[in-house]
Formats: sequence, structure tokens, C-alpha cells
Amino acid sequence: MKIYREKDYDAMSRRAAEIIAAEILHDPACVLGLATGSTPEGAYKYLVDWYGKGLLSFKDVLSVNLDEYVGLAPDHDQSYRYFMQSNLFDHVDIVPGNTRVPDGLSKDPGTVCKEYDAYIRSLGYVSLQLLGIGRNGHIGFNEPGDHFVKETHVVDLTESTIDANARFFASREDVPRQAISMGIGAIMGAKKVLLCASGEEKAEAIFNTVCGPISPSCPGSILQLHPNVVLVADETALSKLTAAGVEV
Ligand code: F6R
Repeated sequence: MKIYREKDYDAMSRRAAEIIAAEILHDPACVLGLATGSTPEGAYKYLVDWYGKGLLSFKDVLSVNLDEYVGLAPDHDQSYRYFMQSNLFDHVDIVPGNTRVPDGLSKDPGTVCKEYDAYIRSLGYVSLQLLGIGRNGHIGFNEPGDHFVKETHVVDLTESTIDANARFFASREDVPRQAISMGIGAIMGAKKVLLCASGEEKAEAIFNTVCGPISPSCPGSILQLHPNVVLVADETALSKLTAAGVEV
């Protein structure tokens, strides 16, 4: 695992954006696996800025998002489709039909999951999978459990994730209890994984991901088995690793 130690959130964001931009410049028709949440927001701002300066085009890029809340419409301001539109897609030249986010409103989520995996398989592979990480070590919404789930699936969000995401909603009660998440299979099938983390509250999850036993109790730990992972994190997110003497 290659680790970039950055001084703060902005430096982390810029480095992550550079890696994504390099992927697009190398292969303009690449498949980007995308994430939502606070972590990638800054990187998306850099990408939008570079697109505006003519340095980058998304016109042949395909994207598949990691997850979506069950029960939120695409135009709900906390849905992940809305997040992607407002933070990236609406500001660049990506073709709308080339972007995928699981349908959280479907009456048949089982079929949505199967079709999502079939679509990813039809693309061949994800060129670069961007990931944030939960305080409990979740990647996508693959929550800690007693086994890894390979396929896209409906997840019951843990209390820890509901607590963490309550900051985006009017009240904790408004946070959806379920999500559709890409499984570990599609994440591990990506050619390259770009894991980003910022802040002290991610330090333990990052430590367990990089150095802990490979266990579904910290889903991120499976990344130790991936041959091409780049971790971009700020000093606080790396603090437990550095305190343990791990070279970063
Ligand atoms: C989001 C996702 C989640 C987040 C994680 C961290 O699409 O899949 O795994 O990356 O919950 O969220 P933030 O970045 O808000 O701390």
C-alpha cells in the first residue's frame, strides 16, 4: 500500500484529485468508482476547477457510485445522487447517462443490486475506486460484521454510521436506516483503489485497515489483499500509525 501523508484536508484533497485526474488523462474513457461524504468533497472541487480551466475532460468517463440511501429520491438533498450532481456531475462534461448511482427508491432493491453488479461486470472493471472510510472501518456501506459481502446488497446501517451521518440531516430520526452498497467484490475488483481519510476520528479505522488483522470487523482491512491501493490521508488520520512507529 502506497501512503501519502498530507498536512491537512486541503492537501489531502489536492493529492487525491491529482491521482484521479492522472487516471483520466491516462485513459479518457476510464471507469471511476466514486464516493460521497465529507472526505471527497474537496477533491471534487479541485476536479471541477481543473475542468473549468480546460485541463481535464470527463466526456468519455463512466462512473459508478458506491452507494445510496434506501428511501431517498434522487432530488432529496441528502441523497447520494444529489450529492454527486451538486458536487461534480453538474459542473463537468460527464454524459449524464454514463453516471450510475444505485436507485434508492426502487420497490425491488434485490433486482437493483443484481443489475448494478451486472452493469459493473459489463464494463469489465472499475479503473480507479475512490473510497472514504467510516469511523468503524466501513468502506462503501459495507458495515462491520461476521463476513464480507461480495455482491451489491441492502445494508442495515449501524448505530455508529447513523450517528456519524446525522450531522447532514435535520434530526437523527431522519437518517435512513438502510442503504444499497456496492459489495467487497466490486471494490476489490477495481484496478486501483484510492482510499482517502482526514481527521483524528478516522485514525483508528486507518490503523486497523493498514495494520490490523484482515477481518470483516474492520471491512477496510480487506484492502491489505488488494495489489494496488493508494492511501492519501492527513496527519491526524495517520496519527495512530505514526504513533505505532509505522513508516508513512
Ligand atoms: C460514501 C461512502 C462511505 C463514506 C464514509 C466516510 O459514499 O461510501 O463509506 O466514505 O462513511 O464518510 P465521510 O467522508 O463523510 O466521513
